[in-house]
Amino acid sequence: GPATGNAARGLRFTAVAPNTTDAVTVPEGYAQNVVIKWGDPILRGAPAFDADRQSAKAQAGQFGYNNDFLSLLPLPGEPGRQLLVANHEYTDEVLMFAGYDPANPTREQVEIAWAAHGLSVVAVQGEWKSGKLTAVSRHHLNRRLTATSEFRLTGPAAGSELLRTSADRTGTKVLGTLNNCAGGTTPWGTTLHGEENFNQYFANGGSVTEPVAAARLKRYGIAGAASERKWERFDQRFDVAREPNEVNRFGWVVELDPYDPHSTPRKRTALGRFKHEAAQPRLTADGRPVVYMGDDEKFDYFYKFVSSKRMMRGTSRAAREHNLTLLDEGTLYVAKLTGDSPAAEIDGSGKLPSDGEFDGGGEWIPLASSGPGGRKKSFVEGMTADEVYVFTRQAADKVGATKMDRPEDVEPSPRTGRVYIALTNNSDRGKEGKAAADEANPRNLNKHGQVLELAEYGNNPLSTRFAWRLFLVCGDPEDPATYFSGFPKEQVSPISCPDNVAFDPHGNLWISTDGNALGSHDGLFGVATSGERRGEVKQFLTMPSGAETCGPIIQDRRVLVSVQHPGEKDGASVEKPASIWPDGPGRMVRPAVVSVWRKDGGNVGV
Ligand code: FEO
Ligand code: CA
Ligand code: CA
Ligand code: CA
Repeated sequence: GPATGNAARGLRFTAVAPNTTDAVTVPEGYAQNVVIKWGDPILRGAPAFDADRQSAKAQAGQFGYNNDFLSLLPLPGEPGRQLLVANHEYTDEVLMFAGYDPANPTREQVEIAWAAHGLSVVAVQGEWKSGKLTAVSRHHLNRRLTATSEFRLTGPAAGSELLRTSADRTGTKVLGTLNNCAGGTTPWGTTLHGEENFNQYFANGGSVTEPVAAARLKRYGIAGAASERKWERFDQRFDVAREPNEVNRFGWVVELDPYDPHSTPRKRTALGRFKHEAAQPRLTADGRPVVYMGDDEKFDYFYKFVSSKRMMRGTSRAAREHNLTLLDEGTLYVAKLTGDSPAAEIDGSGKLPSDGEFDGGGEWIPLASSGPGGRKKSFVEGMTADEVYVFTRQAADKVGATKMDRPEDVEPSPRTGRVYIALTNNSDRGKEGKAAADEANPRNLNKHGQVLELAEYGNNPLSTRFAWRLFLVCGDPEDPATYFSGFPKEQVSPISCPDNVAFDPHGNLWISTDGNALGSHDGLFGVATSGERRGEVKQFLTMPSGAETCGPIIQDRRVLVSVQHPGEKDGASVEKPASIWPDGPGRMVRPAVVSVWRKDGGNVGV
């Protein structure tokens, strides 16, 4: 099994063995606490969680459901405190409401679900000499944004006809954010939130017959009849047949200024519309943000946005106002990858080609750009700039971007600038009528996923060319179709379905998983990206039953993770729970944020 002593700095802990325990299992010598759970009150006046007396009004002041992405921001002048920002991706009604009838949700249940979606901002207080964190309810920066809060569309497509509805003739004012999965933290102190599987909330896409509109809806997975949650019964904007453009107002990257509790969060149209998993910026040498983004769907693409504006340093009002315009002007690109090994050597089995690596080159293909005063330009034949921004997937199809195995989270290394992209899996790769394996997606029926490492040409994020190689080809290390950058496989932890990625202060990549196909629970792993230990994967923790690991943050003193959808299993309900985490038998299972630290007060993994 994985060794401890000579591991890379930051990864010196005893690896947790794969298991199916209904708990968060941490390494020997580490402790944990639940920081905040679904339903905990964060706003003034919000009641404590009461499973049997839920209301939409209460939920709107409480921490939302299914926390995913997490960001921790400094709170200057408040010793020991930080500001936690969390995504609430979606709701699991059968686990939220006793006796829930999926065919006939009540208005109250639907309104609770609206209030349980969105974002939370909540101050957290650290404890002296430990990594324990607790929520500070009623802090003046605490905030909830839900499926009915006001958001503003900004950038090149804002105001376009494609974004106007009967309730909003301006095409700029949207109610709500939905399905916020992963995200990012900007160097100017805001957070980014990807609106991912927004299609599931919209009904009757299948009834649209006009060919152009039908093709657009189909490309985004909006082709059904009734939606799963039946929201269209309570607000007609969720019915595509009655309000055709409302769905175009979802699928964006949201930018939130958590330091201004009165600010209206923005949906940044310059970053394109797709199932945004995440968005993480890196700065160019002259201070312009470059944002890397994945579209989490089988055979979809990854993208980057290069801003044409430079960040202003400092926290002055002028700097903050200027920096809130950085993501409205610039160029959106999609990635095309080419392998360097003969195609005959890529047979879909995952066997390494004769040059010993899955690797090659690539180019960033421009799709559209936006400039000052609403100027915009399409680079895609047959599509206007507005169409490229709103139907970005179709633009990327036209330019021949590379179809990937579900691009999830992306993270540029703060040390090396290399960008890591989690490609979580693709059960359809190589099936009849679908794209076959290529060097970047080298396994057909890919169950376990891979992590791609991208180096911009000259390490310049403005470059339109890059080199890439697979850093990890995940799975059981005993499976010959796995690869850990050449590190001895007998010394690594098994890993499957990489989803979120984050860096620790030592330059190691941490990877959380979703959907482990090796028979054990999901978890969080650290891996060295450089030096002799490059490729040594070590498992740091495992999840309770049914949960996926999200939102990892690795600080010197603590690791923070989202325990998302614990107890989510086919046939599970409030009455028949598949997990009793975190409160034990007889209590409702609740998604929550967990902090983990070293009991002896030392730094994590050193
Ligand atoms: Fe919400 Fe792609 O995970
Ligand atoms: Ca090769
Ligand atoms: Ca995810
Ligand atoms: Ca996922």
